[in-house]
Amino acid sequence: MASVPSLAASVHQRLADALSAALPEAGAADPLLRRSDRADFQANGLLALAKKLKGNPRELATKVVDAIGDSELLQDVEVSGPGFLNITIADKAITETLAARAADGDRLGVPLKDNPGLTVIDYAQPNVAKEMHVGHLRSAVIGDALRHMLDFTGERTIGRHHIGDWGTQFGMLIQYLIENPGELAPAADVDGEQAMSNLNRVYKASRAVFDSDEEFKERARKRVVALQSGDKETLALWQRFVDESKVYFYSVFEKLDMEIRDDEIVGESAYNDMMAETARLLEESGVAVRSEGALVVFFDEIRGKDDQPVPLIVQKADGGFGYAASDLSAIRNRVFDLKATTLLYVVDVRQSLHFRMVFETARRAGWLNDGVTAHNMGYGTVLGADGKPFKTRAGETVRLEDLLDEATERATAVVREKGEPIGLTEQEITENGVQVGIGAVKYADLSTSPSRDYKFDLDQMVSLNGDTSVYLQYAYARIRSIFRKAGDARPEAHPELALAPAERALGLHLDQFGETVIEAAASYEPHKVAAYLYGLASLFTTFYDQCPVLKAESGPDQVANRLFLCDLTARTLHQGMALLGIRTPERL
Ligand code: ARG
Repeated sequence: MASVPSLAASVHQRLADALSAALPEAGAADPLLRRSDRADFQANGLLALAKKLKGNPRELATKVVDAIGDSELLQDVEVSGPGFLNITIADKAITETLAARAADGDRLGVPLKDNPGLTVIDYAQPNVAKEMHVGHLRSAVIGDALRHMLDFTGERTIGRHHIGDWGTQFGMLIQYLIENPGELAPAADVDGEQAMSNLNRVYKASRAVFDSDEEFKERARKRVVALQSGDKETLALWQRFVDESKVYFYSVFEKLDMEIRDDEIVGESAYNDMMAETARLLEESGVAVRSEGALVVFFDEIRGKDDQPVPLIVQKADGGFGYAASDLSAIRNRVFDLKATTLLYVVDVRQSLHFRMVFETARRAGWLNDGVTAHNMGYGTVLGADGKPFKTRAGETVRLEDLLDEATERATAVVREKGEPIGLTEQEITENGVQVGIGAVKYADLSTSPSRDYKFDLDQMVSLNGDTSVYLQYAYARIRSIFRKAGDARPEAHPELALAPAERALGLHLDQFGETVIEAAASYEPHKVAAYLYGLASLFTTFYDQCPVLKAESGPDQVANRLFLCDLTARTLHQGMALLGIRTPERL
């Protein structure tokens, strides 16, 4: 007997349960339901099942129809073709099911996972003393969305911002600062933009000396050794670069309307004390071997030029540790100290070879196994409108803040044009301009599959038509405006009322919210949530064109029922956008 569906279950789930009850032979197998043009759903798993049972699919289908009988869920079931079931859901069941979901506050009837794991998610990882670029933007935006989505399904999450705060370049920077004190103002005295421009200046100046002055180069090298051996003065200066950079990072994250916690900024340097032990463990277990003085791991399948194996370097011949050693140490920390069950990395696809080697090494060492897995959501490159990697005309990387400011500026113009006639105040125009601009940037990124490159095209991003965040934000604001005009009318479900085609289509789409989010979270695919929301806004637009809400033809109950659909649509849009890290202004 299939489990009795709770009222908050979706129509889709209830139907799947009814089918399995009618078909006990199918065991746990899903009857494979999909939305169809001919009916609300089509079940086509019967063909495979009939084959398995060595029966006739059409006969089996007829048997199912009889067994379901007149379940109140169904309006019509019809056997078609060689044994498909075309299923039409009763209007009453649609409205009732949605009403149960609507009664469930912000969760909208979406169940929490039964056995949540702990995912450590590595995202938003810029580098100290360096400008953030569009690649860092993608990691931050995708990582933030995945985190919201996982949290919403009940998974526990811990963030790790693996910032680049360690390495030989700090020898050069610190030595320069020792010889030119006063070049960096204390972090407390600067804002993000000043901090970055100071850091940039110091970076460029120190680089110039480093490249032209052999003696400085030597002093810088010694400084690296001092840093790694924990010399106090050196560390204090290093800390100033970190603090100054954090002022800058936070200013960008704030612009991005993204919450970043200080205790989750755990950069490469944090694993410094673990590196020697990581190397020892790998060497003792034979996972890593000495080769020309360095400690390396070889992989049969990974080969470079001339078919030579490409090793992962755990420790260099001079004893130094690099990026791989910090990532391997971070894995030990995340698995054994934080007790993660999943490690998720949101890092540029160009680092995917690095992660393949790091993960495989950790597996050989037994740190990763069937119970603790690691994935890199390698994301693609951000391209300019011309389809080439995103650069300024002079070929330089585009400053992230400039980009965000420009998005906000363009969005504000759009908001102003639409907003002035409806009496938005100057403050609302400014606030909404930010929410629309930042939302546009995030949405353009998130509505593309992460593994694909995407075009950074501001004109397209703030367009009111098409698959953009503003389009979704307008749908939300339109509903809010209906409610401002509704007077005493209240949203209330009336399952006894027949639904118009546009109402059914909207209702059945609303029904899919939970399953969409759960699937998208499990497969780390925010674009599936984006596509769902775009579909929702489009179906709402059709509904709104075809079904008068406040002037509904058959009276107050229908007004209430249509307001109910409006309300659930607005709340679903709001919650769905929040999962993507995007706000929904009340008036636009
Ligand atoms: N800071 C690096 C970069 O800018 C990304 C760090 C990715 N995370 C990691 N665990 N390696 O390329």
